Amino acid sequence: MSPKRFPEGFLWGTATSAFQVEMGRGAPAKESDWYTWVHDGDNIAAGRVSGDTPLDGPGSWELYPEDFRIAREELGNNSIRLSLDWSRLFPWSTEAVDVGVERDEHGNVCGVSVDEGAMEELRALANPSAVEGYREMLSEANRVGLTVFLTLYHWPIPLWLHDPIACRDDLEGATRRGWQDQGTIVEFAKYAAFAANAFGNLVDLYATINEPRIVSQHGYMTERGEFPPGLNDPGPFRVSMRNLALAHGVAYDQVKRWDTASISGKGPATVGVVVVLMHYEPADTSSPADVSACDFVRYMYNEWYLNAIIKGDYDLDLDGLIQPDEQWPHTIKGCDFIGVNYYARWLVRHADKGWGRFDYEITTGEGEISEYGWETYPQGLRHSLEWAYDHYRRPIYIAENGLADSTGERRTRYLLDHLKVLHDVIQGGVPVRGYFHWSLIDNFEWADGYKIPFGLYRVDRETKERIPTESAAVYREIARGNALPEWNVKNSG
Ligand code: FCB
Repeated sequence: MSPKRFPEGFLWGTATSAFQVEMGRGAPAKESDWYTWVHDGDNIAAGRVSGDTPLDGPGSWELYPEDFRIAREELGNNSIRLSLDWSRLFPWSTEAVDVGVERDEHGNVCGVSVDEGAMEELRALANPSAVEGYREMLSEANRVGLTVFLTLYHWPIPLWLHDPIACRDDLEGATRRGWQDQGTIVEFAKYAAFAANAFGNLVDLYATINEPRIVSQHGYMTERGEFPPGLNDPGPFRVSMRNLALAHGVAYDQVKRWDTASISGKGPATVGVVVVLMHYEPADTSSPADVSACDFVRYMYNEWYLNAIIKGDYDLDLDGLIQPDEQWPHTIKGCDFIGVNYYARWLVRHADKGWGRFDYEITTGEGEISEYGWETYPQGLRHSLEWAYDHYRRPIYIAENGLADSTGERRTRYLLDHLKVLHDVIQGGVPVRGYFHWSLIDNFEWADGYKIPFGLYRVDRETKERIPTESAAVYREIARGNALPEWNVKNSG
């Protein structure tokens, strides 16, 4: 037996998200903050976004049977990571649906109860063609033999909850403020309950939220202003981190409550969260200022959120210590696994901005830099996985890992090098249950549109044809064999 085999039952897949792949064929989903954001003239003029439109996307809303065929037959995958577009399912407000809301002494939403009556109302409110479309999509994935890993929130929020332009221009004065307001947590709980109820007999593996830190940072603490609502202020960044942590808990509860059907034999719903763990190092290891900035960045970006949802530690003053009033054990609902997105290494340097602990800037090192400006560093995957397991003792899925590479020539090496590290880490005892490559097909890369190609398959913008890059065949060999290829093991020692 090859020494480089992966565990029995390991999930091999690719990852996509609804907003990035669905549009381009079939009904578009126009009622989200992100849709408004990328089409806004001021955003385009200011360079916050590229000016590309998701309407030119791969069209998976209609073409998903072809995507699933490719994933199953051509890539030999047994799984696929997808997301639902919340705004497609609920383009109209669910705020009038009455649910029980529990708040703690800080005023935080810490529990939501959705009863049968509320579920009836949600069913009546949901967009029937979207429900039907997603049911067909998820059924098709199962039919061809792909275990679905479903993300509930991969970034678009319905416009009725978040007006990103009003928030960009005047956050205080805006009324629909997305993750700044805890009303969004309550609506997220309703949506999660509905999704688990409507699609639970087609799905057993869920992520509540994708990359809460990226949503918070790129939305509220960024010079370019690339994500809605494009602000640059640590205050709302922290509020967003806190509310997204609370949101995980209530959504976790709802999925457990409303998905009662198991198709995998592993229980109706295994529910976790997906975080991005970057590998950070001080730009100058002999500079105490860089070292301490780097410690803070690791803590704030990789650790803070997981501490909140798994330990109930809400270090709101960011001093690294948990005072009694920052201990919120009642907000912990559960996290059955950690989904890790790993891409790159970053160097952290102290920089005076007048922002206290946020006084730093992040740059790349001397390694190979991708077309997205990210530094390839496979060993960082080892550090991230070992760190996450050491700290939180949860099974792990690699929920994303991939390279922006338009010719596809560098992707194969990237894939093999990361999988080799992954194999070692698993051998070392870290329970990693699956690997999802970002991405199946080139897609709409948020603020940067189509110039950032992550697909194992390119997509012809006109015909929507999916065209394999050379890494597709390599990934097939790995997934089919559930092992690293012999030639790679030999070649790379
Ligand atoms: C991650 C996102 C994913 C995609 C990749 C390149 O941060 O989760 O949607 O944009 O980066």
